[in-house]
Amino acid sequence: MATDIKIDKITPTIGADVSGVDLNTLDDDTFALVHAALLDRGVLAFRDQDLDPEAHLAFARRFGDIDQYPFKKGNAHFSPHPDGVEGLVRLEHDEKHPGYENQWHIDMTWRAEPPLGSILKAIELPASGGGDTMFSSLGAAYESMDEHSQQLVANCTQDHDWLKVFGRNLDPAELGAFRADLPMVNHPAVRTHPDTGRKGLFVNEAFGIGLRDLPQVHARQWLSHLYGVIATPEFHCRIKWEPGTVVMWDNRAVAHYAVNDYYPERRVMERVTVAGDKPF
Ligand SMILES: [Fe+2]
Repeated sequence: MATDIKIDKITPTIGADVSGVDLNTLDDDTFALVHAALLDRGVLAFRDQDLDPEAHLAFARRFGDIDQYPFKKGNAHFSPHPDGVEGLVRLEHDEKHPGYENQWHIDMTWRAEPPLGSILKAIELPASGGGDTMFSSLGAAYESMDEHSQQLVANCTQDHDWLKVFGRNLDPAELGAFRADLPMVNHPAVRTHPDTGRKGLFVNEAFGIGLRDLPQVHARQWLSHLYGVIATPEFHCRIKWEPGTVVMWDNRAVAHYAVNDYYPERRVMERVTVAGDKPF
C-alpha cells in the first residue's frame, strides 16, 4: 500500500491529526484509511493542504453527494462562494458580523436527513489568534450515562428547526418560502450511527426544541442535563486552525462549537457538507 499517511490521536476519545496526505490526490487505499479514521475518531484535522474549491468538493464527493445549502441569500452569516461555485458555503465573521456558532450544535439537524459530515477549510484566520473549533463525542457522552438514563433518553425524540437560528436574518417573504420547503423535523434523541452501530446523544442546543415524550418539567431538566453532558470537556477535542488546515467531522457522531473569542477580528471559512441519511 503506497501511502505515507499518519494518524495521530488527539485524545483517546476523539479526534486525530492526519499528516502525510494530499487531499488533492487521494488514491483509493489512502481514502479507505481516511474513511476508517473518520468513523473511529469523529474528527480529522488535515494540515498544510492546498485545496482549491473544486478539490474541496471532489474530496467531499468521495463520501457521498454534496448537500446544497438552502440559505444562499448572503444573509451576513452564510454566503455563496464568491466565484459562484455550487455546493461551497462561505462563513464570514468580522466586526459587523459577529460569530454566532458558539453554541454546541450538530450541523443542519433541521433537515429530515442531516449531513453525514462537514468539511471546513480555513480561508482567513484572526490576526491575533483564537477562533478554534471544539468537538464533542456524542458516543462518549451517551456512554457516560447510567443505564437508566440511557433508556429514558432513548425513548425520547427532539424537534429541530432552522428558524431558531436563521429566522432572524430572513424577511417575511423569504421566511414563508423556507417554512414551506423546510418544515420542522423530529429525530430520535439517541441516534445509532449507520456505519459503526455506536449510539450517540443526538440532541442539539442550537436547533433542537424541547424533548418529546417526557412531562414538560422533566423534559426541561433533562435537556439541560444532556446539554451539560455534551459540554463536558473530557469528551472533547479542540482544533487550532492554521493556514492550510482542513477539518472533516462526522456529523452523526460529534457536536461542535466555534469559539467566538476573536471578535472584532475577521475569520473566513469555507464549508462543504456531504448529504446524510435519516437518523434512527
Ligand atoms: Fe456548525
